[in-house]
Amino acid sequence: MVDEGADKSDLIASYYTGQTYFVETGCGRAAETLQRVEERELFDHAFSIEVDHFNYLMGLENTWRLNNVTLIHSGSEYLSMFLDFWKEEPCLFCLDAHSTDPNAYTPIREELAAIFYQPWGHTILIDDARLFDEWPAWPDLSWVLAEAEANGFDHEVKDDVIRLVPR
Ligand SMILES: C[S@@+](CC[C@H](N)C(=O)[O-])C[C@H]1O[C@@H](n2cnc3c(N)ncnc32)[C@H](O)[C@@H]1O
Repeated sequence: MVDEGADKSDLIASYYTGQTYFVETGCGRAAETLQRVEERELFDHAFSIEVDHFNYLMGLENTWRLNNVTLIHSGSEYLSMFLDFWKEEPCLFCLDAHSTDPNAYTPIREELAAIFYQPWGHTILIDDARLFDEWPAWPDLSWVLAEAEANGFDHEVKDDVIRLVPR
């Protein structure tokens, strides 16, 4: 996405269609997006999943005062373990969990498999679209779009964000 925080929360708000929960993967130490989303009071509850211990603690420091926010300390490749938190409710997912190393593993395949498994009309925004065809350890963009189509999602790639909306 173009800028962090405020701009991202504008984009998220533009995809809000009454979803109950916001679920982010990759909180970051400032938890900026999570904070901006919570300020808007659109969702019943906002979750973010962060694998890095220091980033998680800093994220907690920046969000513990906020209502309706939960930080989960885990790799988002285990997203399926947390699906019961948002059972039978539509969510707006913002997938942004990754390292800064182009050769490092990305959890996007497991994240998408977990989300596609739930037929409750989730909407999915995936940050850093350009990296899918640039970073060797990431799947190709064409793979993501084919998976989305096969699972009943319309897709658009714009401003470095992959946008998947249930058909
Ligand atoms: C670009 S930052 C996130 C920024 C944040 N979403 C925001 O908008 O303010 C990416 C984050 O993903 C985290 N991360 C990397 N691999 C992860 C994984 N497997 N599961 C969860 N988080 C991960 C990194 O530690 C880092 O904090």
